[in-house]
Amino acid sequence: MKLIDLDTPTALLDEACVQRNIQRMQQRLDALGVALRPHVKTAKCVEIARRMQAAGARGITVSTLKEAEVFFEAGFDDILYAVGIALPRLAQVRALRERGCGLKLVLDSLEAAQAVCAAGPGLEVLIEIDTDGHRAGVDPEAALLLQIGQALQAGGAVLGGVMTHAGASYECRSPQALQAMAEQERARCVRAAQRLRQAGLPCPRVSVGSTPTALAAQRLDDVTEVRAGVYVFNDLVMHGLGVCRLDDIALSVLTTVIGHQPARGWVLVDAGWMALSRDRGTADQPVDWGYGAVCDEQGQPIDGLIVSGANQEHGIVSWRDGHADAALAQRFPIGQRLRILPNHACATAAQFGHYEVLGSNGALQRWERFSGW
Ligand SMILES: Cc1ncc(COP(=O)(O)O)c(C=O)c1O
Repeated sequence: MKLIDLDTPTALLDEACVQRNIQRMQQRLDALGVALRPHVKTAKCVEIARRMQAAGARGITVSTLKEAEVFFEAGFDDILYAVGIALPRLAQVRALRERGCGLKLVLDSLEAAQAVCAAGPGLEVLIEIDTDGHRAGVDPEAALLLQIGQALQAGGAVLGGVMTHAGASYECRSPQALQAMAEQERARCVRAAQRLRQAGLPCPRVSVGSTPTALAAQRLDDVTEVRAGVYVFNDLVMHGLGVCRLDDIALSVLTTVIGHQPARGWVLVDAGWMALSRDRGTADQPVDWGYGAVCDEQGQPIDGLIVSGANQEHGIVSWRDGHADAALAQRFPIGQRLRILPNHACATAAQFGHYEVLGSNGALQRWERFSGW
């Protein structure tokens, strides 16, 4: 199989780039003296998680119980499910634990703590801490933190520690702001751990992270592990945050030119939002890439050319500044292949059931990915 033989649209991975991204994050966290528990929700692919493990990752993070099931079947047994538990699914959690899966849960309410304890003894739980006002979690200074800790301890659960995810890092607009956010994420989560310990409660794990804060952190004292995920592919949002270069983006969508509107300066391709996703994550960043950055078939970005519009199965390629360039029709004739770099790798990857993986020798292999909950 060669690139030319592939049907489009397809999710293409640059294998060497994936490997570089894995090494880079691992080396960075090794240097900061903290374990990496990668979030496998971006790739949802066993081959990739195995490469992360081989590079030194310890445990994995998942965003669905389906991921927990699939990765456990594949031999991963140290799994943090980092989304607040929906109580009707506690039976599934127990079943996984009984099969030997070291699944850990997160929660941030007394109700959930009580339900977890009622589901049976010995479930390991991390309390989610809000370090940035972005989403879920308990304020590190709140009385509720100790109440949840005490309820878990008294109810027979294993209080595994605290975790946080500073999602506000995606809105930072300078390296200084990112560094400050990384330190805020660290300091507030460590503070929550201290409060639990001062109250006589155990707090062995202090788990923080996202790709931008992991790469911006100057120190990670008193943190035990970092959860980063999208770094494995990177994307245009990460590029806009300044944490990767365009050529660090390992995932692209291979597409074919299917038509032209020369008077409008449009090239139509067979990758619409069904392939690219509707994610417009760069819309709020200084550089807006529309639905993706356009590269030639070899993956070289074409400066200024973006997917400016997307219907379900049609992508509209044009210059970012909107000028109607009739010459694009000759430059990119019908049948020409292009690659599109995604705004948000997790969302784009989720449109596909497998990856076509391009090795440095030009050979292709297929890695399965899965979806669902
Ligand atoms: C709870 C949690 N941890 C870790 C991550 C990983 O962050 P990133 O994808 O920026 O690496 C995410 C991403 O959404 C998350 O929700």
